[in-house]
Amino acid sequence: MKLKLAVLPGDGIGPEIVEQALNVVKTVVTKFNHDLHYSYGSVGAAAIDKCGDPYPEETHQLCLNADAVLFGAIGDPKYDNDPKAKVRPEQGLLRMRQQLGLYANIRPVITFPSLLDKSPLKREIIEGVNFVSVRELTGGIYFGKPQGRSEDGKTAYDSCVYHESEIKRILKIGFELAMQRDKKLMVVDKANVLATSRLWRETAQDMKDQYPEVKLEFMFVDNAAMQMIQWPKQFDVIVTENMFGDILTDESSVISGSLGLLPSASVGEKTSLFEPIHGSYPQVAGQNVANPIATILSAAMMLENAFGLKQEAEIVRKAIEESIKKEYVTKDIANGETYYTTSEVGEWICNYIRSRNVEV
Ligand code: IPM
Ligand code: MN
Repeated sequence: MKLKLAVLPGDGIGPEIVEQALNVVKTVVTKFNHDLHYSYGSVGAAAIDKCGDPYPEETHQLCLNADAVLFGAIGDPKYDNDPKAKVRPEQGLLRMRQQLGLYANIRPVITFPSLLDKSPLKREIIEGVNFVSVRELTGGIYFGKPQGRSEDGKTAYDSCVYHESEIKRILKIGFELAMQRDKKLMVVDKANVLATSRLWRETAQDMKDQYPEVKLEFMFVDNAAMQMIQWPKQFDVIVTENMFGDILTDESSVISGSLGLLPSASVGEKTSLFEPIHGSYPQVAGQNVANPIATILSAAMMLENAFGLKQEAEIVRKAIEESIKKEYVTKDIANGETYYTTSEVGEWICNYIRSRNVEV
């Protein structure tokens, strides 16, 4: 099979973790006799430095022409404390989501048995947790108009806006995902306060009859934030709007023990994009210490979701599981004094994949 990738390393630790994920993809492709083509594109602060635009048209075309995008991270502290900065790296990410129509961000939470004690939550609370968050990604308060300041600069406003069609298409993804899993869909909202949330509820109730097997439930976001760490096993599929999803998915990463473990897929109208849920972690950029697992797991999601390569994705996940079991891991999830670098972990995973016998 031919795999055509756009590779966007981005900022901070992005380049080093993407390099490892790409090495894993190359290893899989060689093992299973696929045909890989890839090109690099710039995005974020790296792109601002290069051409003044955090999501240049050239990068957009590259993504449009690819079958999938492998993405690292975006963000650079030199922009964070400058509220007057005209252009910010994050705008690149937001424009990329919008221009590629990536309206659904799928973030699974899984636990690794050997890492249960890494989580600040008690073992009995997190053992066996397995849920997926579906975050709406191109609407709501992130993109609603009007947004800005009053003339005197003393008032600022953001708008949370959702059209029924945007709600329908994201709920459809939630319902369909629930059908493939335990058939439980939790819509998280703030319908006791927000008009948009009430439209979400109404729309979900209207769609319910199309999925009679799915148990549809609703939860207010403040309660959901609490339930997620108190009793996370109750969740199967969570679907929620952009901002609530942003916050809840960071919270959910605590369950697995490290932000460095969780992958995500963004899907929608055009090319799908795969990226770790963590940020660019600029403090350690270039030091070869960042955990590459979230990005490698994102590559596994890409093999499965964008190309239907199930067996290939499975072997990558197996390799990651083994590396964790053998404690061949980076410092953030190491148990003792011994830990390995980003590239050592990546190489271990590639070697494991090479050494496996598989029937192709
Ligand atoms: C994420 C990030 C982004 C978001 C930022 C960098 C704009 O936090 O992907 O979750 O808020 O969506
Ligand atoms: Mn976020």
